[in-house]
Amino acid sequence: MSKKDKPDILRVGVIGLGVGRGHVKGYQTQPQAKVVAVADVDEDRLIEIAETYGVPHRYTSGEQMLQTEELDVVSVATPNKFHKELTVAALEAGCHVLCEKPMAMNAQEAREMLAAAQRAGKRLMIDFSYRFNEQSQALKAQVDSGVLGDVYFARTIWHRRRGLPRFGGWFGQKALSGGGPLIDLGVHRLDLALWLMGYPKPVWVMGSTYNHIASAMAQEQGVDFDVEDLAVGMVKFENGATLELEASWAANVQEKEWMETRLFGTKGGLVQRNVEQTYKFEAELYLEQGGAHFDAKLHSTARPAHDAMHHFVDSIVNDTPHIATGEEGLLVMEILDAIYQSAEEGQPVRVG
Ligand SMILES: NC(=O)c1ccc[n+]([C@@H]2O[C@H](COP(=O)([O-])OP(=O)(O)OC[C@H]3O[C@@H](n4cnc5c(N)ncnc54)[C@H](O)[C@@H]3O)[C@@H](O)[C@H]2O)c1
Repeated sequence: MSKKDKPDILRVGVIGLGVGRGHVKGYQTQPQAKVVAVADVDEDRLIEIAETYGVPHRYTSGEQMLQTEELDVVSVATPNKFHKELTVAALEAGCHVLCEKPMAMNAQEAREMLAAAQRAGKRLMIDFSYRFNEQSQALKAQVDSGVLGDVYFARTIWHRRRGLPRFGGWFGQKALSGGGPLIDLGVHRLDLALWLMGYPKPVWVMGSTYNHIASAMAQEQGVDFDVEDLAVGMVKFENGATLELEASWAANVQEKEWMETRLFGTKGGLVQRNVEQTYKFEAELYLEQGGAHFDAKLHSTARPAHDAMHHFVDSIVNDTPHIATGEEGLLVMEILDAIYQSAEEGQPVRVG
């Protein structure tokens, strides 16, 4: 579509209104977009959100919304199981799609989604939301300017002492989620580290998964839970770098919520981590210059960071590339698949 043919205001639909509520709010900060339709199988939630945010058209089926409305952009924010089918349907209906993380249940589904985007000539972005804060973006600019030198090691983690999302619900059921904290939390920290590192090509993966704490809790409470409660993976890249990834919903650590991503380079290192066990972040650089060692803490940035919804609309309207692409989403899924496979087989797995 040429710039001239583009509608002035992009018409947006959002499917799935848990975290999808944040999508509706996010688009509302964008003067060039309007959320005209929402869909959720839960009618009470649908009406509550549509009323709160003044969304005129409401559907209890995402497919029905896509068949009825003429939309430019669709957010898919349902449980993971439905990401593929709704994303493909939205692309085939001629929409650009912002899909929640994880992109899909596995890499095969992610490939099918990318192929659908290519066939339709539409954009596919993944909501790797932890890139879209000031700390992450400031660090990305530093890495890209070369202050770290060559990055040869990264450690990226998200642990919770006890933080099982809606225990007994879809998150803990493999058939609906595709996996546990690795695919839920690890996916964010993996993407963040890979993005900072420039998405190097993975070649070998070694992984382990455990389910000691949550399985005992599930048995006690009589609920379904058939995914891991802790996962760890080591990724070796073609350029020689190594990455360690750790994620848990239940672990015997002090912190209620502990997120940390570190990069180690030949000239400097960095950390982005949460503060006081909250979802607020800080960022620091550790540099070696002229034989002296400096610590630099991020104080503030010149511009506020916008969220994924704002960025996606901006990119479409201005015909500029968006970040957090479907291709990157696929690479993440390939690594996650390999960690699960390695955990099952008890040996390293080759990727790519
Ligand atoms: N980017 C982030 O930081 C972030 C944060 C939380 C969740 N997520 C992701 O967002 C997705 C949803 O997670 P959540 O926490 O909102 O879950 P949730 O269970 O709170 O909400 C999901 C919503 O989708 C609705 N739904 C289920 N099946 C549907 C279908 N087929 N069609 C339409 N609606 C359907 C449910 O009724 C519910 O309202 C997951 O993929 C999750 O990984 C991302």
